[in-house]
Amino acid sequence: MNIAMIGSSYVGLVSGACLADFGHRVVCVDKDQAKIEALRQGRIPIYEPGLDQVVADNVKAGRLSFTGDLKEGVAQADVIFVAVGTPSRRGDGHADMSFVEAAARELAEVVRPETVIVIKSTVPVGTSDKVEHILLTHNPTLEVSVASNPEFLREGSAIADFKRPDRIIVGVNDERGRAALSEVYRPLYLNRSPVLFTSRRTAELTKYAANAFLAMKVTFINEIADLCEKAGADVQDVARGIGLDNRIGAKFLHAGPGYGGSCFPKDTTALIRIAQDFESPMRLIEATVAVNETRRRAMSRKIAAAVGGDLRDRTVALLGVTFKPNTDDIREAPALAIVQALQDAGAQIRLYDPAGMDAARTAITGVTFGNSPYEIAEGADVLVIVTEWEEFRALDFKTLKQVMKSPCLVDLRNVYRREDLARHGFRYFSIGRPD
Ligand code: UGA
Repeated sequence: MNIAMIGSSYVGLVSGACLADFGHRVVCVDKDQAKIEALRQGRIPIYEPGLDQVVADNVKAGRLSFTGDLKEGVAQADVIFVAVGTPSRRGDGHADMSFVEAAARELAEVVRPETVIVIKSTVPVGTSDKVEHILLTHNPTLEVSVASNPEFLREGSAIADFKRPDRIIVGVNDERGRAALSEVYRPLYLNRSPVLFTSRRTAELTKYAANAFLAMKVTFINEIADLCEKAGADVQDVARGIGLDNRIGAKFLHAGPGYGGSCFPKDTTALIRIAQDFESPMRLIEATVAVNETRRRAMSRKIAAAVGGDLRDRTVALLGVTFKPNTDDIREAPALAIVQALQDAGAQIRLYDPAGMDAARTAITGVTFGNSPYEIAEGADVLVIVTEWEEFRALDFKTLKQVMKSPCLVDLRNVYRREDLARHGFRYFSIGRPD
């Protein structure tokens, strides 16, 4: 099939490259000429393990190309995916639909009359209807079919998630859209990934419901973790104990400093707004957002307690700034709120992250950046694991003890066990486990 992908950021680029890997011919389109130029030269603008290889292989095979020219990009397309951003709108938390709407207006002028247009961006309920309306208003000769096909890939494991998804959700209102998307995803039938056909509105809402549920699940275990600390129980055992129940499931029950990233915070807020508009409030999600918001800053109190309660003139070494491992993304990362709270309390902060340093340097001020855990640990009163990068899983505590002012680890991701640290003479504080 000939596919055009409008928007070559995270979702667009990964989806485009993977669809090309399935054998489709894909043109990725983006308005950002510098990005297109970089991609043409084989430079990948985002950090995503394995993506560079998939892009390189498919460019070489002639199945994947990039253009800044929309008309040229869609000229041959049987199916056009719209994967432009839908960030939080300033002020009200609704999804900002200006990029989707602009894409629809521009597409109206250049698409072939019978093209299938698929909204992949995360969009409020009713967006497909709106896009269809925009297309037809701008070009009444069109007979396009508009479908909704939300994406569920995670940063850091995007290729595997795209190629072996738990399910594919396709919202269609007509047979043409259904047939085209069946063909797009036919290569996945071998993997037995179920393709669920629904109405467009159902597909749009399913995406928000999935992210909101997962955010709620993480927040639930975080609150259980707080209770565990007070009640003398172990949250990891509780998570395992409930997760083995198939009705609950073991994933997304890892307690931590609160969820972050470009999706959960934006999508939970957008769902709350959508629900309010429909006068059907989502109180559980409202509580989830509020609990998560306070949690991130509250982590600084845990760090303060580890150094005796007062952070003034204490040196805190933070390991990790990205919202999770295997990404360079620091959007809504818990580390940002933690840094702010620590600074407010008068602490000196040193920071290291395997991939997030460039982003951190532009977003955070008043912090000393280092090139390794050992460099930032020098003279520190406490070391804090904020993101569970692999390289933090086997730290050399002998060296750390030598360079730190006092051997103390606050492990906000429960990477270690108390006994491991006790052996090295470290004081150890974690999440939801008895101190
Ligand atoms: C999330 C969803 O998992 C994807 O399915 C979805 O496609 C994506 O949003 C999106 O809408 O584009 P992502 O934001 O990449 O993916 O990251 P997650 O792996 O879901 O993690 C989100 C946050 O929850 C991170 O801060 C992570 O540290 C935290 N988390 C996750 C926990 O604290 N505990 C867990 O057990 C799991």
